[in-house]
Order: sequence, then C-alpha cells, then structure tokens
Amino acid sequence: MKSSFVIAVDGPAASGKGTIARALAAHYELPHLDTGMLYRMVALALLRWGGDPGSEFEAVRACKSGLVPVDDPELRSEIVGEVASRISAFPAVRAALLERQREFADQPAGAVLDGRDTGTVIAPDATAKLFVTAAPEIRARRRFDELVRRGKSVHFNEVLTDIRARDARDSGRTAAPLLQAADAALLDTGAMTVDQAIAAAIALVDDRLA
Ligand code: C5P
Repeated sequence: MKSSFVIAVDGPAASGKGTIARALAAHYELPHLDTGMLYRMVALALLRWGGDPGSEFEAVRACKSGLVPVDDPELRSEIVGEVASRISAFPAVRAALLERQREFADQPAGAVLDGRDTGTVIAPDATAKLFVTAAPEIRARRRFDELVRRGKSVHFNEVLTDIRARDARDSGRTAAPLLQAADAALLDTGAMTVDQAIAAAIALVDDRLA
C-alpha cells in the first residue's frame, strides 16, 4: 500500500514539463527525477562507445554501461535527444530502466518524476498527474530561442521538423507511448509565461490534494 506524495509530469519535447517538475519539487519539497535524462545517458553512452542506435541489443548493452556522469553537458545536445528518442522505443531498453524509476517513485519521501510515461507506466498510482503540452510551433520556437542563446546556428524550420518527428516517434511507438493518462490534468503552456505555467501547475496539484 503506497501512501507517499508522488507527482507525475508528462508531455512532449519543449512543453515546459522539466521546468514545471523542478518547480513543483522545490515547492512541495520532494526529490525530483528527470526520466528523459536516463534515456539520454544511455544514448550518449551508446554514441561514445560507437554502438548502433538502430540495434536494440546494443542499446540494452549501453543501459548496463552507466558510465556517463549526470552533469555531462553533451547530454542536453540535439543529437543525444534524437538518439534517446530512437532507443527509448525499444521495449528492452524501457524494461532495463523501469526498476530504477519505480524505486525513485516509491521512496517514502515522495517524488516528482517527469517524462513521457511517468503517469501511465512508472507511477500509475501517483497522487497528482499533469500532462503538459503546447502547440508544436510554440515548442519549436522555445527550442529555437534556447539553441540561439547557446550560440548554435539553426533554422527554425529544421527545429520544427525535429519536434514533429520526435512527437510522432514518442506518440506512435508501441512500448509506453506518450499519451495523457485518463486521470491527468491537462496544462497547455502555449500562452503562458514560465511563472504563469508554474502557478497553474501548483494550483492543479493543490486541487488534487484538496
Ligand atoms: O525529455 P527528453 O527530451 O530529455 O527525453 C529524451 C527522449 O527520451 C524523449 O524524446 C523520449 O523519446 C524519451 N523518453 C521516454 N520516456 C520517458 C522520458 C523520455 O521515452 N519517460
């Protein structure tokens, strides 16, 4: 019987779910896990070792290597995100990372998890679930602005195409696809500032707690 306070935050790339999850963790004083980072760590380990991102067998081997430090700046790169999205479609990769995420969700201190399947697969009994989204054009604009700030030379249309491809792959896969859990509250951040989105998320969680 679980009684700890767990918040599951899911949504597509650049929806704001990571920022919201971190803010919720700070607000409710809960430990936070960015589950996308686990897939990114596997992707980066695979790339560094020269493995094939199209091979489920090699991706599972990369899960076991676990040698990428969590603060490696490469983890946030576009190529690593792209490979993470590809290898995360493999059921054996998801299975290899499942236990670690469930343990995090089950800790007595409670937890905030963000990703694609935290409310549907990892923590289906979460106290509160949010599905954070925004139109692809708005998410692409945010990603584009962030890349430009980081000094990257990119075209908006390429970023939009990447976002759409990532959405299609994350939603279209058979293993734990990206979808809104039936009991998740929808939060469209498209017309919101960061502060507004955080305030709305806290209000939705408080509502679940009431
Ligand atoms: O959220 P982030 O962009 O860091 O995640 C990278 C990729 O990892 C996503 O595109 C998605 O395919 C995968 N992922 C997943 N399940 C999660 C979290 C991330 O499949 N719970």
